[in-house]
Amino acid sequence: MSALFTPLKLGGITIPNRLGMSAITRNRSSKTVPNEIMKQYYEQRAVGGAGLIVTEGTLITPQGTEWPDAPGIWNQEQIEGWKKITDAVHAPLVVNLFPALAPHPEAPEQIAAGVPVYAPSAISAPGGKFRYLEGAPGYVIPTEIADPTVIIAQFKQAAINAKEAGFDGVELLGGNGYLVHQFLDSLLNTLRALIEVYGPDVAIKLNPAGGYNDVGMPLQETIATFGYLLREVDKLKLSYVALFRYMLRRLDPDLDGSFPRDYTVWVAPRLDRQDPECDGLSVCPFYFAVSVSVPPNTHIFVSGSVMPAEAEELVSGKAAGVFLGLTWICHPDLGKRIRAGMELDTVPDYETLYVVHNNPAVGILTTRRLFIRSWK
Ligand SMILES: Cc1cc2nc3c(=O)[nH]c(=O)nc-3n(C[C@H](O)[C@H](O)[C@H](O)COP(=O)(O)O)c2cc1C
Repeated sequence: MSALFTPLKLGGITIPNRLGMSAITRNRSSKTVPNEIMKQYYEQRAVGGAGLIVTEGTLITPQGTEWPDAPGIWNQEQIEGWKKITDAVHAPLVVNLFPALAPHPEAPEQIAAGVPVYAPSAISAPGGKFRYLEGAPGYVIPTEIADPTVIIAQFKQAAINAKEAGFDGVELLGGNGYLVHQFLDSLLNTLRALIEVYGPDVAIKLNPAGGYNDVGMPLQETIATFGYLLREVDKLKLSYVALFRYMLRRLDPDLDGSFPRDYTVWVAPRLDRQDPECDGLSVCPFYFAVSVSVPPNTHIFVSGSVMPAEAEELVSGKAAGVFLGLTWICHPDLGKRIRAGMELDTVPDYETLYVVHNNPAVGILTTRRLFIRSWK
């Protein structure tokens, strides 16, 4: 496991190893303000050996998302909440800036925002489930936004706030069909706005293959679009580019509404290049960047059911690092565990992925608490 546990300079920071923790929404803030539970949760993963922690998706403006308790970073109270976390977590910490997908106009935060649900065009995506609203409605037909560049200014302000809160960098969620992904042409300008604030410590997360939230293009278009995008992004000399690969069983079923309840398929065995269901590049197009051509200034981090042996293989090859998401949730000590050659022996508890019984403490810190203590 040597390559995985070597340090790497990324922008203005040096990460101690290549094993990152990917952004995972846990929906446990106190009315969008980061809290003590979240602080302990991130502290656990830092103690557990994460080389770089990306926070859960953090909202840049009030919006009625499907996750009403996702944290925000638009007001002072939220900044103060994040400050306590950045002070306590002794691992490089990057905030995942989360644009709206399609909020719901009846959600209290959206009503408070006083703006309609914006998108590039008045076309609704299938899916969505606003469980906390009466009747758990899905996505609505959005309002076509007249000037998408206003969103760039909101991102820039979020980066200014992130700096005040003490984050080491910002990661722009530019994939998964969320708003920035819907406006790929605004993406470079958004990155430039973030660079004005954070210099070399700006990163982006993309999923070229789409699949989630009704986005995705045929293979050749994907390669042409994202190949161009990656070359342009390369000129900006970002901290890293995280590529989230397409996973058939994880993403496709989501679109037809029949998501598999056998959650163990989410973590292992993972879908890989050898899997008969994986049609080479069309299913795993991040490999076109990793195995074919990594632009010269770009550190590629790979994400999507990456398991330790593959992580080592990727980092020994052209990937600079990996991000694991769900595996960090159920193994807070993942870094130390992999380094010590110990097995991964739990799967995430999906019932407590997001907040249950209105109690943010349930299901987030209990896992392996005693074990984690023994690492300290
Ligand atoms: C429950 C859940 C919540 C997630 N929340 C976010 C998020 O807030 N922001 C983001 O960029 N990615 C998010 N992701 C994507 C993960 O960061 C990661 O890319 C993905 O889970 C693949 O990695 P894994 O297979 O190791 O979990 C989420 C994934 C899951 C399963």
